Amino acid sequence: MKVTVVGAGNVGASCAEYIAIKRIASEVVLLDIKEGFAEGKALDLTQTATTLGFNTRITGVTNDYNQTANSDVVVITSGIPRKPGMTREELIGINAGIVKSVAESILAHSPEAIIVVVSNPMDTMTYLALKATGLPKNRIIGMGGALDSSRFKTYLSKALDKPANDIQGMVIGGHGDTTMIPLTRLASYNGTPVSNHLSAEALEEVAAATMVGGATLTKLLGTSAWYAPGASVAYLVDSIINDQKRMIPCSVFLEGEYGESDICIGVPCIIGKDGVEQILDIQLDANEQEKFKKSAVAVRAMNDALSSNV
Ligand code: NAI
Ligand code: 2OP
Repeated sequence: MKVTVVGAGNVGASCAEYIAIKRIASEVVLLDIKEGFAEGKALDLTQTATTLGFNTRITGVTNDYNQTANSDVVVITSGIPRKPGMTREELIGINAGIVKSVAESILAHSPEAIIVVVSNPMDTMTYLALKATGLPKNRIIGMGGALDSSRFKTYLSKALDKPANDIQGMVIGGHGDTTMIPLTRLASYNGTPVSNHLSAEALEEVAAATMVGGATLTKLLGTSAWYAPGASVAYLVDSIINDQKRMIPCSVFLEGEYGESDICIGVPCIIGKDGVEQILDIQLDANEQEKFKKSAVAVRAMNDALSSNV
């Protein structure tokens, strides 16, 4: 199976690395507009194969979409971060232009590909990719919930002082500091509600830390994170390529689910070879429903800045 990753920067390269190391796909193409950059990343990664023991063929290309032909999955990480003095609308305008043209170039060479959108603001970029390409909704998947959930589980494991792999939990809603919804009510430690083990105050602290999880890392690193984002993309790609049918919160197009329509926002999905194979209704309580509604309002406000790009 072939995966193309557009944008060979921090997240793109990290995702390619995990796909190779975990032997998720037989071929990965890294594409970037910076001359020689993707080639360099691909060469460096390839030189880890004998040490790490994988056979994935990794190719780097400078904007040559011919090399991406017949990809099964394409991950879009290309974009720019917000710069000082730049308005949110300007950032959206620039990234929207990039995501739209990348999605069109990809489909010209891989008409059957499933597209995973990572570039921020992710929910809005996913919506744009869907509208711009006209692809069926099962083939456009925004990655954010997988990452936010991994941060949620990590903070829970720290608060509980228990191994992260014993924790289950999920974050839905928008992929933003104020829009994501860590579902503490449903989180569990080996099948027992986390509320049996942590006070309401401790759970609130975990939720708050999760919500600013990306910002915390950006402050520490001077740019946004890449290991957990790259691993989360690889996890999602694995579920598609190897038809794992994992339940993963993803930003997908809603048509009435969770009371929302004409929006891409994080909800629990079954992800398999056809992309989004099912959207699960996990029966939110009134408080969670209210938060979801507010989150959708905020994501829609972001989408409004797209008007000239859709
Ligand atoms: P980065 O700056 O390290 O890499 C972006 C790459 O995209 C650069 O190498 C750049 O040359 C390339 N690029 C720009 N325009 C392009 C085009 N038209 N075609 C091909 N390549 C192009 O950024 P990083 O850290 O990898 O982040 C990438 C994006 O992912 C950002 O928008 C970031 O905010 C977002 N992100 C989203 C996450 C999520 O959970 N959805 C998590 C982490 C980052
Ligand atoms: C993150 O959550 C900024 O979306 C990026 O790390």
